[in-house]
Amino acid sequence: MPKKDRGSAVRLSRLFASALLAGVGLALSYAALPASVQHPVALATPAAGAPTGIIAHPAAIASGHPLATRAGQEILAAGGNAFDAAVAVSAALAVVEPCCSGLSGGGFYLLHRDADHLDTVIDAREKAPGGATRDMYLDSAGKPIPHASTGGPLAAGIPGEPAAFEYLARKFGKLSLKQSLQPAIRLARDGFPLDERIHGVIGFKRDVLLRSPDAAHVWLTPSGAVPDAGTIIKQQQLAATLEALANDGARGFYTGHVAQDLVAGVRAGGGIWTLADLAAYKVVERKPIIGSYRGARIVSASPPASGGVVLMDELNILSGFDLQKANPALRKHLVIEAMRRAYRDRAIYLGDPDFVQIPVAMLTSADYAAGQRGSIRPDKAMPSEMLPGVEEPSSGPHTTHFSILDAAGNRVAATISLNLYLGSGFMVPKTGVMLNNTMDDFSIKQATQNAFGLVGGTANAIAPNKRSLSSMTPTFVETPHGVMIVGTPGGSYIINMVLLGTLNYLDGMSAADIVRYPRYHHQYLPDEVDYEKGALSADEIRTLEGEGHQLRESSRQWGNMQVITWDFASGRVEAASDPRGAGEGLVY
Ligand code: GLY
Repeated sequence: MPKKDRGSAVRLSRLFASALLAGVGLALSYAALPASVQHPVALATPAAGAPTGIIAHPAAIASGHPLATRAGQEILAAGGNAFDAAVAVSAALAVVEPCCSGLSGGGFYLLHRDADHLDTVIDAREKAPGGATRDMYLDSAGKPIPHASTGGPLAAGIPGEPAAFEYLARKFGKLSLKQSLQPAIRLARDGFPLDERIHGVIGFKRDVLLRSPDAAHVWLTPSGAVPDAGTIIKQQQLAATLEALANDGARGFYTGHVAQDLVAGVRAGGGIWTLADLAAYKVVERKPIIGSYRGARIVSASPPASGGVVLMDELNILSGFDLQKANPALRKHLVIEAMRRAYRDRAIYLGDPDFVQIPVAMLTSADYAAGQRGSIRPDKAMPSEMLPGVEEPSSGPHTTHFSILDAAGNRVAATISLNLYLGSGFMVPKTGVMLNNTMDDFSIKQATQNAFGLVGGTANAIAPNKRSLSSMTPTFVETPHGVMIVGTPGGSYIINMVLLGTLNYLDGMSAADIVRYPRYHHQYLPDEVDYEKGALSADEIRTLEGEGHQLRESSRQWGNMQVITWDFASGRVEAASDPRGAGEGLVY
C-alpha cells in the first residue's frame, strides 16, 4: 500500500470524527412524520473509523467527450498530475465539444491535493464587463429585450477559462502549461471527426451560426448545411489562439494581439468588452463549502457557484429524515420539498460574494435546516408561494463536467461552460473563439425567469465586473470507505442531479448506476416537479399528485454526469459517463 494512500485514509477518518461532532445538536422532533422516517440525530450514523487495507489504485478520467478523456490520459501518461490533466481535458473540450464549454467560457474547478490535504475551488467564472449596467437588457419600458442576454456579443462575460489554465499549471501542476495544451492544439490544428451529438447541436443552432460568418465557416458547410457526422473539423484560428496561450500563458490571451482581436470583434458585433476588462481578469481561489451528511464529508463549490450552498441546504434538511426507511413516494416527496426550500434560498440570497453579503454559515447550518424541515408535511406539498420572502426570484446539457483522480490521490471535479448551447453562437473573427452568453445567468430583471426558468433577486443583479450566479456543483463525497467525484451540466437542474447522485452513492449505488439514474427536479419556481420518463412509478405519481405536487414529465433527458468512485479497501476505481451524453470514463 503506498504511504500516501494511508495518509489520505487516516485524514478522512479524522474528518468524519469532526463531522460527527458537528452533527450533535441536530436533535429535532417531527411529530407529523411517521416514526419510521424520523431521524432525529442526523449525523449519528457512526463513522466507520479509519479505513483499513487501502491499496494502490488506478487513475481515472470521466468527461463529456472521448477525445478529451484521451487528452487527459496522454498528459497523465507524460508524468502530469490530475491538475495538468484538468488543463488538457478542459482545453480539448473547448475544441471538440463547442456546445458546452470553451476558451471564452468559465467555471469552477474543485481540487483536492493529497500531499497537503488541500481542498480548494478555482473560481474561473466569467465577469460582467466594466461597462455593464443593471438594466442593460431592458427596453425603455423596463421589459427584457428578447434574446438580448443570450444572443450575440452583448451577452458575453469576460472569459475565465484561460486564466484558470495558467493558474492550475503554475500553482498545482507538474508539467508546463505549454505541454498540457498540446493535445488540444493538435485536435484544433489537425481536426477531429464530428460526432452525432455535436452534429445535432449544430443543427439545432444552425440559424444562429449563420449570423456569425466565422462560426459558420467552421461549423457549417460552404452552402450553410450541417456537415455530416464523421466530417473532420479543423480550427486553425483556435489552434493559433491556443498556441498564444501555450507560449505566453494567460497574457497571450488577455493582452496582446489575441486580446485586441477579441475586443475588436466583440465591439464590432455590438458588445462592450474593453482591453482593460480582459487585462484585469483574475481567477479567485475560494474556500469550498464543506458539510456532512449521513457520516459523509461533502466538499463542493462555493459562491458565486450556488451548488455547494444549495446542496448542503438540501442535505441538511434531509438529514432529519431516514430516507432509507421511507417508502419510495415519501422519499421523493421529502427530497422534492427539500429542493423547493433550498432553491428559494438560492433565489433570495445568492450572488457574487465579492459584491453581496451571503449568509453562507446560516444557509449551511443544521439549525437553519431544522427550521426549513419543520415546515415540511409528510402528506402534502407546500405551494412555493406560501414560502415567505423572495423580493423578486438554470436546463439541458449545455455546460460540461469532468472528473479526474490520479494515482497519487489528487482529484479534480470541474464544471465549465459557455452557458447555453454554443454560447451566444458568435465566433470572434480571427480568434476561433465562440463567445459565451453567461450574462443571462444574472437576474436581468427582478422576478423575471432566465433561460433556465430561474428567478433571482438583487443579490444576482448585474453590476460591472461582477460574476453571475451559477448552478455549477462540482463535488467530492467522502465516506470512511471511499470517495465519489461528481458533477454534471444541466443549468438549474445541476444541483438536484448532484443531490440525487449523492443520495444514491451513499445508498451504495455503482458509478454506472448513479449516472444513468432517472432524475426528478423542483426549483421553487415554477412550482412543479419536472421528471424524466421512468423517474416516477405510477404509484408514486398518484401519491405525489394526491399530495398536491404539480408533476410534469419532461419530453427530454437532462444532464451529462461524469462520476468517478474509488473504494479504499479494494482499490477499485470506477469511471462512468452519463449514457445521456457521448462521453467516456476511463480507468487506467
Ligand atoms: N450557465 C449555467 C450555470 O452556470 O448555472
